[in-house]
Amino acid sequence: MLKVEGLQKHYHHKKILENLSFSAQQGEIVGLVGENGAGKSTLLNILAATSKATAGSIYFNDWDYKKDKSQIRKHIGFVPQDIAVWNQLTVEENMVFFEKLSWQKKSKAQLEKICLDMRLDRWKEPVKNLSGGMQRKLNLAISLIHDPSLLLLDEPTVGIDLKSRKEIGAYLRRQATEGNKLIIYTSHDMDEIKELCDRVLVIGEDSFYYDLLKEAGKEVMVV
Ligand SMILES: Nc1ncnc2c1ncn2[C@@H]1O[C@H](COP(=O)(O)OP(=O)(O)OP(=O)(O)O)[C@@H](O)[C@H]1O
Ligand SMILES: [Mg+2]
Repeated sequence: MLKVEGLQKHYHHKKILENLSFSAQQGEIVGLVGENGAGKSTLLNILAATSKATAGSIYFNDWDYKKDKSQIRKHIGFVPQDIAVWNQLTVEENMVFFEKLSWQKKSKAQLEKICLDMRLDRWKEPVKNLSGGMQRKLNLAISLIHDPSLLLLDEPTVGIDLKSRKEIGAYLRRQATEGNKLIIYTSHDMDEIKELCDRVLVIGEDSFYYDLLKEAGKEVMVV
């Protein structure tokens, strides 16, 4: 379980996140929505333990982010907002490269299966020849190599066509349910959020997203 209590993030004197609290369980897909600059990426970076909170506590399965960071990081898969893959290398070479950095060992067949499961079948293709959507799929595949139990995705479906988005959605649902993962992801696509998420966290004071999602019958929390 993920538990966030009284989280704050200030950059210099600018307050980005104020007194934010929520909890979420493995097996859930939780959407994170809010307008540009609301602090979604900031929150995901803190949950990914790549950035520190100014105040507050976070626990994941009883590990404390203040004390057990290296342990927590082993169980987190993070896809940042910007694509971070090696352009000159093939899909295969990228997967092998990141597998070497990972604490869990995977065979080439296992790595290829992760890609195929989300219909990324250009194994021998240099990344620079792939479409933006395919590169996003690769980014997502890389984040899954070490079989994380907490998956944090920052706009993973931007620039991806509807069919691929549906495939990724179905894949994420299987990962949550069968793989017992907690998935937290941001998107500006409200249809996708409505379809895919069990619950939605709305960041920011503006009630626009809250009203929209509530009307659609979603369980919404303002954080
Ligand atoms: N390293 C930083 N130093 C100072 N301010 C920052 C830093 N990173 C982000 N910010 C500010 O924090 C605020 C929240 O940014 P963040 O990227 O988390 O928003 P977001 O909700 O992800 O927006 P978007 O929908 O555009 O991705 C913005 O005002 C941004 O300018
Ligand atoms: Mg962002």
